[in-house]
Amino acid sequence: MKKISILGSTGSIGTQALEIITQFPKEFKVIGLTTNTKIEILEKQIKAFNPEAVAVMDGEKADLLKKKVDINVFAGLDGIKKIASLENSDTVVSSLLGSIGVEPTLEAIKKKKNIALANKETLVTAGQIVMKEAKKNDISIMPIDSEHSAIFQCLVGEDISNVNKIILTCSGGAFKNYTKDQLEKATAKDALKHPTWNMGAKITIDSATLMNKGFEVIEAHWLYNMPYEKIEVIMHPQSIIHSMVEFKDTSIKAQLGYPDMRIPIQYALTYPKRLKNALPNLDFFKNNNLTFKEINHDLFPCLSYAYEAGKTSGTLPAVMNAANEVAVASFLQDKIKFLDIPKLIKRLIDEHKLIKNPDIDEILEVDKSTKEKAKKIIENNQY
Ligand SMILES: NC(=O)c1ccc[n+]([C@@H]2O[C@H](COP(=O)([O-])OP(=O)(O)OC[C@H]3O[C@@H](n4cnc5c(N)ncnc54)[C@H](OP(=O)(O)O)[C@@H]3O)[C@@H](O)[C@H]2O)c1
Repeated sequence: MKKISILGSTGSIGTQALEIITQFPKEFKVIGLTTNTKIEILEKQIKAFNPEAVAVMDGEKADLLKKKVDINVFAGLDGIKKIASLENSDTVVSSLLGSIGVEPTLEAIKKKKNIALANKETLVTAGQIVMKEAKKNDISIMPIDSEHSAIFQCLVGEDISNVNKIILTCSGGAFKNYTKDQLEKATAKDALKHPTWNMGAKITIDSATLMNKGFEVIEAHWLYNMPYEKIEVIMHPQSIIHSMVEFKDTSIKAQLGYPDMRIPIQYALTYPKRLKNALPNLDFFKNNNLTFKEINHDLFPCLSYAYEAGKTSGTLPAVMNAANEVAVASFLQDKIKFLDIPKLIKRLIDEHKLIKNPDIDEILEVDKSTKEKAKKIIENNQY
């Protein structure tokens, strides 16, 4: 039986992870859960899963919850780190949103917990340090992201030295057929209508800008130790092929399935087992039009920024991520326009003084200062 803590249990990934745990009660026991503010949902989860302890980021909400439940309720980032390192857990689902996930995920790794990783911002922001700690502590990082789960599944039984390249597929997001003029006027409401995936708000916007694909390129680089030159992105609007691996002999392996995050979440939690679930089988005759397109980098420059930041490495990916977090939050609040997101990211990347081999404190400082700078630029309309 796997003993699991979920960081971000009230979110899109967190709730779907709990749905899978419910289906396989003999496989899993929930040890710890966390939320930012949604204590009503967390209270229901406590009743349903009986964890040892929970954490709430928001201090006041943590106090409110303490009055309602009779288990340990921790507060703030330290509280989330406590859940990440609870002695009785062996696996931590890292499904917080944004770079706030870095410290708790690192804490879990240091306490030798295996990680089921959804929080890609952790690898984007601090990939080098996270992978070094994972190796040092001899733990596994199982990808939850559907693309990286696909790559993992294509690589089972293969020698990584035989890989020619990784081919990440990309749905193109809500605006894949938009012109520049349409993008100028695109609203958050439009961007939230993802054509194939049902996900949290931030990642849905990241999909529309293609920043999400950029993050995934960096994530693939770290997870599979793959040079950036060997990671390719192609658009596949139907989201049925979740990614592919091409080998030296030109043979290509792909992983297919409906765009449903429960499939890769289940695989990350049950690997190496495959368990029968109630999801529908892929119907090839209803999905017989699988198409591929090149990316338009002029309209969607965030993907190129990610390649550039990844190759430069050091603190640059952390800057790109921090700028993006603030830009996306502001776009969701209608404070900036869609095309201001890449503009703001580019400006902060260009103005950054690179630290080539940062330690974790330097990365966290860059994350914080970039977010402050981005907020000021937006407040003063200077982007
Ligand atoms: N959703 C998907 O289908 C999907 C697919 C692949 C990868 N991912 C990745 O998975 C991660 C989570 O995405 P999501 O869509 O599940 O996000 P989400 O629905 O917004 O949920 C995020 C979770 O983290 C908590 N949280 C947010 N900000 C926090 C903060 N500052 N401090 C502490 N806790 C905080 C949220 O609490 P509240 O509920 O209180 O806000 C929630 O429990 C992201 O890195 C995303 O890129 C998601």
